[in-house]
Amino acid sequence: MPTPLEEAQNREARADARTARHTRIVVSHYGGPEELRVVEEEHPEPKAGDVRVKVLAAGVSLPDLLMREGIHPETPKLPFTPGWDLVGVVDKLGDGVSGFDQGQTVAALPIFGAYAEYVCLPARALVPVPSGLEAGEAVSLVLNYVTAYQMLHRTAKVKIGQRVLIHGAAGGVGSALLQLGHLVGLEMYGTCASKGAPVVTELGGIPIDYEHQDFVKEIARLTGDGVDFVFEGIGGTHIWQSLKALRRGGKVVGFGLTASLRGGRLPSGHPGGRHRYRAMAIYVLYMLAAFLLSRRRRVVIYSIQWRMRLKPAQFREDLTALFELLRQRKITPLIAQRLPLTEARRAHELLGTGGVTGKIVLVRGG
Ligand SMILES: NC(=O)c1ccc[n+]([C@@H]2O[C@H](COP(=O)([O-])OP(=O)(O)OC[C@H]3O[C@@H](n4cnc5c(N)ncnc54)[C@H](OP(=O)(O)O)[C@@H]3O)[C@@H](O)[C@H]2O)c1
Repeated sequence: MPTPLEEAQNREARADARTARHTRIVVSHYGGPEELRVVEEEHPEPKAGDVRVKVLAAGVSLPDLLMREGIHPETPKLPFTPGWDLVGVVDKLGDGVSGFDQGQTVAALPIFGAYAEYVCLPARALVPVPSGLEAGEAVSLVLNYVTAYQMLHRTAKVKIGQRVLIHGAAGGVGSALLQLGHLVGLEMYGTCASKGAPVVTELGGIPIDYEHQDFVKEIARLTGDGVDFVFEGIGGTHIWQSLKALRRGGKVVGFGLTASLRGGRLPSGHPGGRHRYRAMAIYVLYMLAAFLLSRRRRVVIYSIQWRMRLKPAQFREDLTALFELLRQRKITPLIAQRLPLTEARRAHELLGTGGVTGKIVLVRGG
């Protein structure tokens, strides 16, 4: 029989063992939302140069669904933990790390791995989050708003009064484009389903119902000569339609592969890497075709991950500028739902079904 002291010690040891474990979501086979499995395991230990981050909020985005299906060009090897973007607090520093304090709030775009209670990341990948920001709102800026901001200001270099067409305007990136475009005085048109129209109007755009209207005709009717930029997140043959909505000298900024999924799944029903580069190849084809036909670069491609790899300082600078806009309440990310991490499967089901306005966020203990 253990003594009362031994019993207390055993209880403490069990509690320690419990707290040293954490939950993460794992994809072991490409496929539907049912492939998101909840696993419990020991805390990861930070290597030299790494920081262990206690995740407070992880974003759910269409690129997560594309990776789950195995068709996003960035899809890691199986098994993997999805999750492009996170906000959390510094929990433990690996050897040789300085410049961060335990408990400090940080953000990162690891591309995968954020659907976890704890994650170890290189210290250089972390961006400090100013105090006072709510984690769910802050995480919405990391992928969606940086994408929108860089496409507007670094790729298109928009000017006040220019006309833009934003596809998927009620979605995560779309609503970010509308909010940031409004700040610089753009004339904005946004395609969305009828349910998203009030939000598009509220954010300063003129909604075009993509299910019942031909957006090329609508743009011609509403503007006369077309738009300066189309933000094209749909992909496939849709790119060709987008080119028709341009005014002379205009450009299509291609950034998304939304058309690769139907109801959140691959239309072929065969998930996996076979078609991983197909959607990107279609963009390149249209880029070449538009160039050959008009002798101009009329399709340009934007990729947050490549820009971050090539210009990491720019990513930090832009995310920091966005945190400041949020602190001043000049932008207000739309949060569609906050769900606990263990409901990642439901989050994917919801996003795949469509009609989600803004961003779904997985929160700690939510
Ligand atoms: N290049 C980059 O660096 C980068 C970074 C982030 C995201 N992305 C891409 O950006 C896209 C959007 O991502 P997200 O997370 O914002 O997705 P999201 O929140 O699901 O938004 C997508 C939106 O597109 C709408 N939509 C679907 N089909 C459409 C069509 N034919 N015409 C007009 N709108 C349509 C959806 O409306 P319903 O829900 O009503 O169907 C939804 O509101 C994805 O393709 C993603 O891969 C690219």
